[in-house]
Amino acid sequence: MRPYALYGLAAILLALSFALAQEVDPREEAKRQKELLLQTGGILPTELIVAQGEELFFRKGPSGKTMAECDFGLGKGVLEGAAARLPRYFLDTGKVEDLDSRIVTCMTRVQGFKPQEVKRSEVVAVAFYIASKSTGHRIQVRLLFPEERALYALGEQLFYARSGARDVGCATCHVTYVGRRAGVLPYADVLGKDQSWTHWPAYRYSNDQAWTMQDRIRACYGNIAHPQPALYSTPILALELFLAYNNNGALVEEWPAFVR
Ligand code: HEC
Repeated sequence: MRPYALYGLAAILLALSFALAQEVDPREEAKRQKELLLQTGGILPTELIVAQGEELFFRKGPSGKTMAECDFGLGKGVLEGAAARLPRYFLDTGKVEDLDSRIVTCMTRVQGFKPQEVKRSEVVAVAFYIASKSTGHRIQVRLLFPEERALYALGEQLFYARSGARDVGCATCHVTYVGRRAGVLPYADVLGKDQSWTHWPAYRYSNDQAWTMQDRIRACYGNIAHPQPALYSTPILALELFLAYNNNGALVEEWPAFVR
């Protein structure tokens, strides 16, 4: 081969690698998909779910009360920035609650729904609506109460724990493998650098699903063939508090987010 032919080959390989890199840049791809959906539908799926959540928020429950009677951490009916400060300890339940579980608390304790009447799809829609009021806010989660500190410690322990035949845990993928690719997506540094806490709740265009962080974490447990902790359960809340605290200061660019 003549020397300049090598340059030609190198140029082709370089162009190819750029093309490939572009194809798998998840953020750019998400932006493109968002544009596409907006052009075809005129409205984004995230906006539809937020609107649905708003309707549910102002729907009266069996007690005659709407969710505006509930305290999401900043006082009755105050939603601006509230989701960016969750999970947190609530005196009325004596528990640390995240957005999802606080919505369930509101529906059952204030609105008078029976626990079995609480539909997951409704909780997610309301979570989308409340989270939308924190766009532009920074994550600000604190460990003031002993209950918060205890749950954080449990979350940290669960995050670094490993189990199963492959001896893996959260930290295997989200600390050790950070930057490597998991199929299309790179493993995220969920402990702050990638501001992962701000990516959920989100609409996933790849499979048309609306997920909160609870769904995201449960899916990760599924990936490693580990029994999935139930929704609203202590292990999920513990991991959430641990992750949220480590993402303190991160700016919420857009809630709900739009991801692959
Ligand atoms: C086998 C590898 C693997 C393990 C183990 C794993 N995850 Fe994941 N996780 C992924 C992949 C792949 C994604 C999607 C790509 C990404 O965002 O990192 C993801 C996404 C996430 C995200 C969203 C990141 C973002 O920026 O949107 C969080 C948070 C998360 N995982 C938490 C956990 C927790 C908590 C555990 C332990 C219970 C865990 N993961 C275990 C592979 C794993």
